[in-house]
Amino acid sequence: MSGKSLDDILAPFEPTPKEAYNTILEDLGELKPGEIYLELGAGTFDLGFIAVKKYHTAKAFGIEMDEKLVNEVKGRIKKEVLENRIKIFLGNALKPTPEMKKIMRKADLVYIFLTPGGNLMVEPVLKEYLKDVARVVSYNDWIDGWYYSRVKDVYAPSFFRHSFILYRMKEVREEMRRQKSIKIR
Ligand SMILES: C[S@@+](CC[C@H](N)C(=O)[O-])C[C@H]1O[C@@H](n2cnc3c(N)ncnc32)[C@H](O)[C@@H]1O
Repeated sequence: MSGKSLDDILAPFEPTPKEAYNTILEDLGELKPGEIYLELGAGTFDLGFIAVKKYHTAKAFGIEMDEKLVNEVKGRIKKEVLENRIKIFLGNALKPTPEMKKIMRKADLVYIFLTPGGNLMVEPVLKEYLKDVARVVSYNDWIDGWYYSRVKDVYAPSFFRHSFILYRMKEVREEMRRQKSIKIR
């Protein structure tokens, strides 16, 4: 770890199964050429490489607090000569630097694979920085209090069944405002 507090750990490392890649990026994420892909807690960032190579995103950004993983990703970026398309930050997604905030504001699709507690902790960051047209796909765990758009289950030999949940920021914010106005009345 890069000297970060244990309180800031959103999830231990575990890779997303390959069988779910298309569900995350295409079926739910609707990733389009020229868009910006962002992963919070990026791990080995395999989805970032697929985002640029298969879905032709303009850029893929990852934020990861484990220095060893970040160095692995940096090595792969260099080996595949993708420095202009992929960038991985060593840092804490809960305490974004000004550069990370800028990317969060631009991101079209954000993917998170965290624990339920991690989702709770990262929720204010997503709400504060993501634009209205941004989509968020979460692996397995709900974002408490958020209105979801779609859920898709993936079955595969390497893992039993897992759900992926799509949120659209515009709908999330509209529903929050609606709930608030009901409470006030
Ligand atoms: C369950 S893994 C998911 C890895 C990758 N996103 C994937 O799907 O293959 C969660 C990752 O989040 C990272 N992480 C945990 N807390 C973090 C934080 N506060 N900021 C950035 N990364 C964090 C962990 O080091 C780990 O690599």
